[in-house]
Amino acid sequence: MPRRPELDVQLSRRQALRLGAGVALLGFAGACSITDGTASAVEPDSPQARAFAEAKARQFPLGKRVEFDLRAAPEEVDVGGARCAAWLYDGQLPGPILRVNVGDRVRVLFRNRLPAESTVHWHGIAIRNYMDGVPDVTQPPIPAGSEFTYDFIPPDPGTYWYHTHVDLQRGRGLYGALIVDDPGAPADWDAEFVVVLSDWLIGRTPPQVFDDLRSSTTEATPEMTSPALGGDAGDVVYPMYLVNGKPPVDPTTFMARPGQHVVVRIINASDDTAFRVALGDHRMTVTHTDGFPVEPVDTDSVLIGMGERYDATVVMRDGVFPLVAKAEGKGAQAFALVRTGAGCPPNPTVAPDELRGQPLTIADLNAAEGARLPTREPDTTLLATLGGSMDPYNWMINDQAYPEYTPLTVREGQRARLVYTNTTAMYHPIHLHGHTFAVSRADGSGPRKDTVIVLPGQTLATDIEANNPGQWITHCHNDYHLAAGMATIFSYVS
Ligand code: C2O
Ligand code: CU
Repeated sequence: MPRRPELDVQLSRRQALRLGAGVALLGFAGACSITDGTASAVEPDSPQARAFAEAKARQFPLGKRVEFDLRAAPEEVDVGGARCAAWLYDGQLPGPILRVNVGDRVRVLFRNRLPAESTVHWHGIAIRNYMDGVPDVTQPPIPAGSEFTYDFIPPDPGTYWYHTHVDLQRGRGLYGALIVDDPGAPADWDAEFVVVLSDWLIGRTPPQVFDDLRSSTTEATPEMTSPALGGDAGDVVYPMYLVNGKPPVDPTTFMARPGQHVVVRIINASDDTAFRVALGDHRMTVTHTDGFPVEPVDTDSVLIGMGERYDATVVMRDGVFPLVAKAEGKGAQAFALVRTGAGCPPNPTVAPDELRGQPLTIADLNAAEGARLPTREPDTTLLATLGGSMDPYNWMINDQAYPEYTPLTVREGQRARLVYTNTTAMYHPIHLHGHTFAVSRADGSGPRKDTVIVLPGQTLATDIEANNPGQWITHCHNDYHLAAGMATIFSYVS
């Protein structure tokens, strides 16, 4: 019998105390809002939260131990001939693809060689709370020059990603794909393209852009609007949009053979850009979003907000084709080549016909049969009103700018309905940590998601099985909106 890997946390007593104090402090605002006066927040490394990890371990007795080293450091990176100062994982833009099987005991030794504190968040994974990488909520930030071992079991297969969760570091290059395979369901495709989309600054850092946004008195640029996004398309115009770290002038090339079935895993890792993605001369069949299966739908293009993922399968034709991710409403695009045969590469500014119609959104998707949340009356309904404006540059939830917040409280075992209402003129890709909710629909057909675009004026309800105790942040995945405070805590109490 192989020895069961240790699931214990490698926390020093001092760290544990500091974390405890942090949580108590953050929990204070919440204590006032809990009516029975006796409930207290379930801490990230409490027995209840650990029990979740232990149950996962029992569910996957054959999980192998998989270890990675991940080093974050300042590096110079060549982006289409421009030498850019960046912060990277393992010297790569994007970071290395981390690939594991569902149920594996994953240990990632994170070495922070940045000149700043950092953390790593495993976006979309129903992880145990203490490993979620949210500074001051689930762990103390990891100081410059030190290490931390992340230790978790990914319980669901699919397309995920990882990134720093410390303010405005992500846009410097700290993101990468995390793919969870299911060894019990062999791949039914011949080739795979992992497509990490990002927006890229040159000569400015995200904190400088944030300062400009906060001090500027100008209105949102009028040309940055998009009907598909229901209004403002973003706050920042970027000099470049990238596919796998490469700009249109020096594109990534994906290779396949004619007739092959290819799975395209699209991940939007950008800070402020939604993309409309199409493959020239092909239709795509969308099969998954945010890791979870949907009833397959054919489409020419998909609209993907920051933090979202879409998997699509494509049957390849013979030739060279443009994979275009239009920076929605921003008049520019990211571009890569897909080559299956001879031919001249298309121009990087090409606009394939497939981009013209309505892009696929969650409204077009139903959860696959096995992925549906059973319909159930919510035990509790929680409201998150998204507010704010460009001028002044303020973004908040329920009239509070994080780190000020009143937690949305839930008890383990409840079915929670978390309702996001967008009162602003801009879309917000809202993300909840630690859970894959269902977009709320009376018939239970709503797709499972961890990040969802909420359009201006829209109210979008999500249904959550509260089965992962701890303290979970929910926030806008626009990194500037998060930095301004558009976040709150989905807090388990007992
Ligand atoms: Cu992708 Cu809170 O993050
Ligand atoms: Cu936002």
